[in-house]
Amino acid sequence: MNIIFLGPPGAGKGTQAKILVEKYGIPQISTGDMLREHVAKGTELGMKAKEYMEKGQLVPDEIILSMVKERLSQDDAQKGFILDGFPRTVAQAEALDKLLEEMGKKIEYVLALIVPDEELVTRLTGRRTCKNCGMMYHIKFKPPKVEGKCDACGGELYQRADDNEETVRNRLKVYHEQTAPLIEYYKKKGVLFEVDGNKSIEEITQQLINILEKK
Ligand code: AP5
Ligand code: MG
Repeated sequence: MNIIFLGPPGAGKGTQAKILVEKYGIPQISTGDMLREHVAKGTELGMKAKEYMEKGQLVPDEIILSMVKERLSQDDAQKGFILDGFPRTVAQAEALDKLLEEMGKKIEYVLALIVPDEELVTRLTGRRTCKNCGMMYHIKFKPPKVEGKCDACGGELYQRADDNEETVRNRLKVYHEQTAPLIEYYKKKGVLFEVDGNKSIEEITQQLINILEKK
């Protein structure tokens, strides 16, 4: 299964991708997580990316594309993958089409999570993320069992540098301007599936399974 999760910041791309990874045994490829790893390690790429991410702007396409190309060529991505947060511009989508064609692959499902902006602000400003394994929580909607600690690995929870209201609003603006046109792009290709993302985590997962298993 070759899947893309499309949706604004906070739509639940990462939350749902992690559930599908467990269910279908294919990897989640999150460009945001990969970039944050580079930032945490202080690599050259990370230092470049950091300024864009902290302002809620997109990191330049060439950085993202070389990272994705390398990741898609790894063994575990050969039987399928879930792209989370990529592509984010029409130029990235076109480059992905070209790359997949060279690899003899194609995208089968673009799962677009639809959520109103005000709900996204609430979700993102209340999000907590595990420093160790990247699992996401929410102070109200998905609290950890022990405050400040990850249920999965016991790691320390932190608030992402871009999860403050000002940066969140800029990320939403960037989404509407640069990423939302991908809905039309994939609709034309006949691979777009729109999902109501303004429901409970469990209800959304069920909608996704229904699409992927054509129930
Ligand atoms: P990235 O890390 O991809 O962030 P994003 O797209 O802004 O999306 P988020 O991770 O914030 O949201 P999500 O949809 O994964 O939601 P989640 O499941 O966590 O990118 C970060 C930055 O990196 C970008 O701004 C850019 O600078 C750069 N970047 C990354 N990719 C790039 C690219 N391709 N090109 C250029 N630049 C790139 O859920 C959010 C919260 O809501 C959590 O607290 C969760 O617990 C809660 N929640 C989830 N589902 C529900 C639900 N159904 N009900 C209630 N609460 C819920
Ligand atoms: Mg995410």
